[in-house]
Amino acid sequence: MTLPTLASDRLILRAYRTEDRPAFAALNADPEGMRYFPAPLTRAESDALIERIHDHGARHGFGFWALERRADGAFIGMAGLAVPRFTAPFTPCVEIGWRLARAFWGHGYATEAAQASLDFAFGPLALDQVVAFTVPANQRSQAVMARLGMRRDPADDFEHPEVADGHPLRPHVLYRIDRADWPAGSAAA
Ligand SMILES: CC(C)(COP(=O)(O)OP(=O)(O)OC[C@H]1O[C@@H](n2cnc3c(N)ncnc32)[C@H](O)[C@@H]1OP(=O)(O)O)[C@@H](O)C(=O)NCCC(=O)NCCS
Repeated sequence: MTLPTLASDRLILRAYRTEDRPAFAALNADPEGMRYFPAPLTRAESDALIERIHDHGARHGFGFWALERRADGAFIGMAGLAVPRFTAPFTPCVEIGWRLARAFWGHGYATEAAQASLDFAFGPLALDQVVAFTVPANQRSQAVMARLGMRRDPADDFEHPEVADGHPLRPHVLYRIDRADWPAGSAAA
């Protein structure tokens, strides 16, 4: 399978290109952008993540797309759909996620890319549900989830199994959205 290219008003969601690697590595190395992850990524870890995203896309036909701004071709970050590798009460599932370079926060790009991803998830992929998760302190990410119309049930809160026991970033909140409720949140972006 290949990763399809999607388009929204201001963005193209596409597979990664070799020339995206330095900008992707820069955003993955930014301590502020990565403060809710256990550690920023090295260049090698960032390149390896692109390889994993590529393999995931080949296996599933969807994934974390590279986000390109249509106006000027700028690489602004990543967003899209993925099958988590860990086991939790809500897996197997498809998650939606986003990570933008800081220069591109505050423009609605994450929400716009997520809307295109959910259109794909509930349209061509015909998924029943998509989830999103983050740490309680990551309010910007939860604001994206809320704008999409995703809902949190505190009963779904969980300890992320890939984060060490006792680590402050181990507790997570879970948001869900069902196909029947899409595109309820899209007008609120
Ligand atoms: C999470 C993250 C993607 C959110 O980015 P963001 O810029 O806050 O979210 P959006 O792109 O949806 O932009 C929304 C903001 O743009 C504003 N905006 C400006 N122009 C807009 C437009 N044309 N349309 C919509 N919103 C617009 C909104 O009012 C909102 O502003 P606010 O934050 O002051 O309320 C970003 O903080 C990030 O990359 N963080 C690091 C990685 C991370 O933590 N990822 C999540 C892990 S689970």
